[in-house]
Amino acid sequence: MRKPHPQDRPGLRDLARTRGLLFGAAVSTADLDSEAYRAALLRECSLISAEYEMKWDAVERVGYGPADALVGFAGAHGLAVHGHTLWWHESVPPPWSGAPRDRFAAAAFDHLGAAVGRYAGRIASWDVVNEPLDLDHGRSGGLRASPFLDAFGPGYVGAAFRAAAEADARAVLVLNEMGLEYDSPDADAKRRAMLDLLERELAAGTPIHALGMQSHIEAGSQPRDHPALAAFLREVAGLGLSVMITEMDVADWRCPRDRRDAMVADAYRRHIGLVLEACPTLAVTTWGLADARTWLSAFRPREDGAPVRPLPLDRRLRRKPAWHAIAAALAATPPCGTLEPDGVHGTEDPPESG
Ligand code: G3I
Repeated sequence: MRKPHPQDRPGLRDLARTRGLLFGAAVSTADLDSEAYRAALLRECSLISAEYEMKWDAVERVGYGPADALVGFAGAHGLAVHGHTLWWHESVPPPWSGAPRDRFAAAAFDHLGAAVGRYAGRIASWDVVNEPLDLDHGRSGGLRASPFLDAFGPGYVGAAFRAAAEADARAVLVLNEMGLEYDSPDADAKRRAMLDLLERELAAGTPIHALGMQSHIEAGSQPRDHPALAAFLREVAGLGLSVMITEMDVADWRCPRDRRDAMVADAYRRHIGLVLEACPTLAVTTWGLADARTWLSAFRPREDGAPVRPLPLDRRLRRKPAWHAIAAALAATPPCGTLEPDGVHGTEDPPESG
């Protein structure tokens, strides 16, 4: 009888499912070229999110082939797919940057309808609009100055969500944002602006179903207790919305080398525990599954040159303290919302077509 291997123990996906939520990771087709990485994804994840290959600039550049491969892999293995992302100021293809407003608007709608329509019924959730806020831009409601705001005005958020709902009535539609997690006056102001935006849009009937919290945080920088974030999330829940942790990683670039794994793990446990406690949560997703695949290697390199360690698995796909911290946070949480691979759990069947 083979001695059970530590990796045979239940994965984060199994622990998450006992709580009625999904656990996922950002993935690229390059990850799927590795049999070991595919196995780790299948062991740990019930959801995958496209790190790059579903973005407008990626699709414009190379077509839907890579995105199709990701959706095909998920479908073959019963994984949910979180579509990332339809309208984002950083993924506007060069031909459209600076185009006349009416031409940009038409192209933006064409892309959104084509992408959502292509995968209708096969993608559980979409980041419809990514990073709509930047209070430093001084625009009304703290909206970020972007080609979308220029082309459509403040109504672009609602326009995007209505178009996405039209193209796929079953998908969970998510408004995704960064920096809502931090403990600062700027973050307080951004959380307030987000609540105002959500209230305006929901009052106008915009079909927003969930708030995506990217959760790119830094070990040692989050407070041990974060009542402002908990209160914000309770207000989000009060609007009838769920949340998704959509892109979590914990940068260790400023941690002492001998304490970084413990500090990263503590940040995962506290942040995930706080979110799951405060608001119905559909999924927890890390921005990559293993350290060899993190964008932080370039964005937040360590001064000592040591490879960064921000994710649940190490470079050899072994479970780290961060993995165990996520497992502990999931285990400590009462069951909450569910986003099943075939769509939102408990939603009404789509209206009969025709
Ligand atoms: O794959 C192509 C390659 O064929 C080409 O030769 C090369 C030329 O530049 O580009 C390669 O694509 C790169 C892609 O990552 C895949 O590696 C793009 O240039 C590069 O811009 C892209 O960066 C991604 C970035 O978003 C911009 O889309 C990062 O991987 C991804 O981690 C990052 O993720 C963002 C979220 O979408 C939103 N929240 C913040 C997060 C981190 O920035």
